[in-house]
Amino acid sequence: MARVLSCIQPTGEVHLGNYLGALRNWVSGQHENDAFHGIVDLHALTITETPGLLGQNTLQLAAMLFAVGLDPDVATVFVQSHVTEHSQLGWIMECQVSFGELSRMTQFKDNSAKREADFVSAGLFTYPALQAADILLYDTDEVPVGEDQRQHIEITRDIAVRFNYRFGDTFVLPKAVMPKAGARVMDLQDPTSKMSKSADTDSGLVNLLDDPAVIAKKFKRAVTDSESEVRYHREEKPGVSNLLEILSACTGDSPEALAQQYSQYGPLKTDTGAAVVEMLRPIQARYGELMADPGELQSLLRKGAGKAREVASATLARAQAAIGMTPA
Ligand code: TYM
Repeated sequence: MARVLSCIQPTGEVHLGNYLGALRNWVSGQHENDAFHGIVDLHALTITETPGLLGQNTLQLAAMLFAVGLDPDVATVFVQSHVTEHSQLGWIMECQVSFGELSRMTQFKDNSAKREADFVSAGLFTYPALQAADILLYDTDEVPVGEDQRQHIEITRDIAVRFNYRFGDTFVLPKAVMPKAGARVMDLQDPTSKMSKSADTDSGLVNLLDDPAVIAKKFKRAVTDSESEVRYHREEKPGVSNLLEILSACTGDSPEALAQQYSQYGPLKTDTGAAVVEMLRPIQARYGELMADPGELQSLLRKGAGKAREVASATLARAQAAIGMTPA
């Protein structure tokens, strides 16, 4: 049984990119694998400023993870800060990665540029070291993520190889796993940018909790191009191809086969919106039920943290012993 780990930041509402790129794979993989899924509140702290918001977002995200179908009796769902080994190994990882390597991370370059006039925390810069700790703590074989996380998984492997070389074989080398359709869901208004919580406007971003009428409207207004031919080509037809990929992720048909079924953009937009609404309907209903009982959510997270700690503490001890740190 492969060990699988992946995490998500509690930085606001979960969107369609998160779901199609990652969460759906977490759910489908939980029965064949030994699955660990973290709500990474320490990562979200790199950009969180409003007091009180982080805990609230964490609980809402937990409800969403269970609503999309993670089963607390099958998968281990936990909050990163509840398992203190993440911070402890995070520091050790910071000492295994160079300033140059961190400077080359595209997400750091993008995020710090976006926040240029703002506070750019040192945590935003060292973020990949903590992510490496998240992954390596669980002897992870596979990391189901969207395309935007590829560089983070690669640097994790580099760090693990370096540590193993310096201190002896300690960490398992993980690999990224991505879905066939939906690994890079693009913004509906700007199909050359990925769908993201930090988009300038909400009109290109589909949140899992959006009202069905709002979702239908966002798809109807999706940006396509001035031609009229429906064809799947990511570079030449980014808007149309994004719609075809989203529809493909909902129906299981390939984007190329779906393209054959449409001669106009209008019906493609309507059908894609309708497919997304249907896919999200049961998730929205379950989310409402789960949020009605925050005490139960907290107790599920406590149970998850207990299971996560068992694995994480053994790996941390192994890493500390490999370095030769004095036992406490
Ligand atoms: P985060 O919270 O930004 O996103 C969670 C997951 O959603 C995927 N995703 C997308 N997939 C397809 N299309 C999109 N437009 C899209 N936007 C987001 C992401 O690839 C991710 O899988 N650094 C991570 C969190 C993290 C992590 C980890 C992930 C921390 N530690 C350990 C894996 C393993 C992040 O910010 O994801």
